[in-house]
Amino acid sequence: MFSPKDAEQETRALEQVLAAYSYYKSFAQQEYYLPRYKKWRSLSDHQKELIPWYGDYLEKLRNAIDCNAAFLQEVVFFAQAMMGISSNVDQWPTPSRVDMEKTVSMISQIYREWSQESKCERGLATDRILQALQAYEKQSVTSRDEIRILIPGAGTGRLMADLVIQGYNCESNEFSYHMLLMSMYILNGGLKVNQKKIYPFIHTFSHWRSRNDQLKSICIPDFNVQEQLAQNNRMAMSSGSFIDCYGSNEKIRASNTYSASPTMKLTRAQMESAFNVVITNFFIDTASNIIDYLHSISHVLIPGGIWINFGPLLYHFECDDQVEDTFEVDPFTGEKTDVHEDVPLKGLELTADEILEVSISKLQFKCLNKEFAIPSGYGRSPSQNAVPGYMCNYWVLQNDKVRQT
Ligand SMILES: C[S@@+](CC[C@H](N)C(=O)[O-])C[C@H]1O[C@@H](n2cnc3c(N)ncnc32)[C@H](O)[C@@H]1O
Repeated sequence: MFSPKDAEQETRALEQVLAAYSYYKSFAQQEYYLPRYKKWRSLSDHQKELIPWYGDYLEKLRNAIDCNAAFLQEVVFFAQAMMGISSNVDQWPTPSRVDMEKTVSMISQIYREWSQESKCERGLATDRILQALQAYEKQSVTSRDEIRILIPGAGTGRLMADLVIQGYNCESNEFSYHMLLMSMYILNGGLKVNQKKIYPFIHTFSHWRSRNDQLKSICIPDFNVQEQLAQNNRMAMSSGSFIDCYGSNEKIRASNTYSASPTMKLTRAQMESAFNVVITNFFIDTASNIIDYLHSISHVLIPGGIWINFGPLLYHFECDDQVEDTFEVDPFTGEKTDVHEDVPLKGLELTADEILEVSISKLQFKCLNKEFAIPSGYGRSPSQNAVPGYMCNYWVLQNDKVRQT
């Protein structure tokens, strides 16, 4: 439960992202189309004659931006209708450049999660995850629909959809309104197979062999989402930071992303041993403090529950110069003690071996399976297979903690 002030802040943050979606067209034109148009116009007639098709290409680029913009605008209208937001873009906070860049990245996120073309890329994780789940199912007394799975950093919810269709019970967690808005639209928008067209590759201009590859349109979604997920109550989405919503109350220091409020404390207490499985898919490297993530995973798992991880260790905060204050809070007086000011968000970039070592020797996990250096793209176009992607790690760890009685 939010206080009125928190609720107001959340509404403004949401509106800012709605505004970012709405301004995609002008941002993309400014960022991608106009500089190239100007460059082309600046050429001598002789140079223009060498690439006579370039003007036509620019027109197609502009049309592709329009098409993406129309798609994003539909997401905005849908979200407004779902959430009863009657104000309009002129009344919403101005999005930052980061908001706009995230909006652009949503187009490739949608391609990664909801296109037929990305099936192989998704399959690298999904096939392994399904195998691990089946093995867990065999050795546990729980039936499939009673296996409770938590997916932190779920993006727009594709993995959750795949697992729910297989009969599992999933809760996704996301803290990005960019992702949450899009997943709301895809999961509830009643889209038919291939109903929407987007141009996911128009925002990058390097590494292309053929112009058509860059201008390729993609249709989403690759299945009738609502029909396949209709009438099931095995799917939930929570909004907020992973450690704030699911972390342990004892082991994590309060900060901007970990609230000491009584409500959040109660929520977190209820999450203790609430899940059979935690799946982190391209997620653990988003940690500013990976140990917080490990504690949180351990906190929510039942004894004998499993943690399935797939993804690289491209630590998101490695090059980030932001800082935050961390502190302890007296639960009765609210007084802050042991305050550490300006703690960098970067740091603690543990290696795969170190994460496994801490988990196994200190946090009572045992290793059931592991695999390293699995090459994978992330929203990579079908024609860019030669472009280096990520080296992913996969592991399945079982929580060996003994149930407290
Ligand atoms: C690299 S994306 C992966 C998305 C999705 N799992 C996939 O494989 O396509 C990482 C996701 O984690 C989310 N995220 C990052 N930090 C988070 C946090 N502390 N709590 C919840 N979600 C977080 C981001 O918003 C983003 O959607």
